[in-house]
Amino acid sequence: MKVRKSNGKMGVLIPGMGAVASTFIAGVEAVKCRLAKPIGSMTQMGTIRLGKRTEGRVPRINEFVPLESPDNLVFGGWDINKENLYEIAIRNGVLEKSLLDALRDKLEPLTVMKAVFDKKFVRNLDGEWVKQGADKRELADQISDDIQGFTKSNDTRRNIMIWCGSTEIFMKPSEVHSSLAKFERGLENNDPDISPSMIYAYAALKLGIPYANGSPNLTVDIPAMQELAQQNEVPIAGKDFKTGQTLLKTIIAPGLKARQIGISGWFSTNILGNRDGEVLDDPDAFKTKEESKLGVLDYILQPELYPDLYKDLYHKVRINYYPPRGDNKEGWDNIDIFGWLGYPMQIKIDFLCRDSILAAPIVLDLVLFLDLAQRSGMKGIQEWLSFYFKSPMCAPELYPEHDLFVQLAKLKNTLRHLMGETLITHLGMDYYEV
Ligand SMILES: NC(=O)c1ccc[n+]([C@@H]2O[C@H](COP(=O)([O-])OP(=O)(O)OC[C@H]3O[C@@H](n4cnc5c(N)ncnc54)[C@H](O)[C@@H]3O)[C@@H](O)[C@H]2O)c1
Repeated sequence: MKVRKSNGKMGVLIPGMGAVASTFIAGVEAVKCRLAKPIGSMTQMGTIRLGKRTEGRVPRINEFVPLESPDNLVFGGWDINKENLYEIAIRNGVLEKSLLDALRDKLEPLTVMKAVFDKKFVRNLDGEWVKQGADKRELADQISDDIQGFTKSNDTRRNIMIWCGSTEIFMKPSEVHSSLAKFERGLENNDPDISPSMIYAYAALKLGIPYANGSPNLTVDIPAMQELAQQNEVPIAGKDFKTGQTLLKTIIAPGLKARQIGISGWFSTNILGNRDGEVLDDPDAFKTKEESKLGVLDYILQPELYPDLYKDLYHKVRINYYPPRGDNKEGWDNIDIFGWLGYPMQIKIDFLCRDSILAAPIVLDLVLFLDLAQRSGMKGIQEWLSFYFKSPMCAPELYPEHDLFVQLAKLKNTLRHLMGETLITHLGMDYYEV
């Protein structure tokens, strides 16, 4: 496969300039100034083995595939309050003030654009920095104008859009989502099933800009958007960044299953006090998140294939809004397992994590990999990026792959494939042939 060269500056367009977005942007600026290291980012820290173990070829991923450098990224975004990135980052309190002060001249000029926002979809928020339009088509056109204005004033050659906005209420695909033509009519008729996140995504895909969905929103998980992505040859990826508790779940569950250990219960509860936690305090927003978090174990454990081990698994996920903790989430897992002859055992996990610190490197990797995908001529759903998501998108006839280690193998094999290298199967019998 031929990968087109990267050239010049690349824009990262972010609907939702909150905790994750500001931690990502300030972090990239800190990395650009060599003030800190991009820990957690595979594109910046990771390596990839090529060929046989005897060959000793293990380049860094960013030396192996022609990724854009973080030095060439510029940022823009939308939110519902008129603030600049310095103010947002200070308010969120994720990064230390001393670091933000060192980056102040980079962050302060980054002001947010007016949002397309409808309280019906995010009930716990209110904002005054919001676009007005006669219908949803007009709002999509305004986003499109913003993007074109951003491209011109920043002189970007390519842009990527990544949703870091709030979780919208739970939605199911409906008639208006079933084809592009119906969706476009729906924009004109102000169809109530078209959410703000869909309006941003539509504007991006129309302009040929790849789109990643960091939340569990329905946004691009509908035939209309997938049709548009195919038509305009744009890669899309989603959904819901896989960070704290679900990341651990997809690390531990495949291991237990690999050793045929049974699981009778998995209870996960969290406390978090950031704005995301406040939004998820609305039961309809939580339902969107819950669906995204619950699917994971079923797909990994395959109870239909292993009824003795997982048929009766009771899986519960709770998120509790608790302001004193801010972005520093605490997630507890109680896992009731059973072994030989059915004897029970327990595992307890107490993960004192930092939500946005875990999410920021994912944003960076997705932006760079989606750009690589587009320059490689890949379009539509990018299943090889499942590694980064709680609810990976995949073709309708497939089930999503949740096992982190399968996802990792898929991602790295995709990179090998793109660069014409042999895929790694881990067979290795030839090492022992005499
Ligand atoms: N931090 C994590 O570990 C993590 C993991 C998985 C998913 N997510 C998802 O990422 C998203 C961002 O998380 P966060 O912690 O930064 O939340 P946040 O509340 O700090 O930021 C979200 C921002 O989106 C804005 N917003 C809401 N609707 C908007 C709209 N229509 N247009 C523009 N802006 C809008 C809000 O005002 C807010 O500033 C959430 O959907 C969250 O569920 C986060």
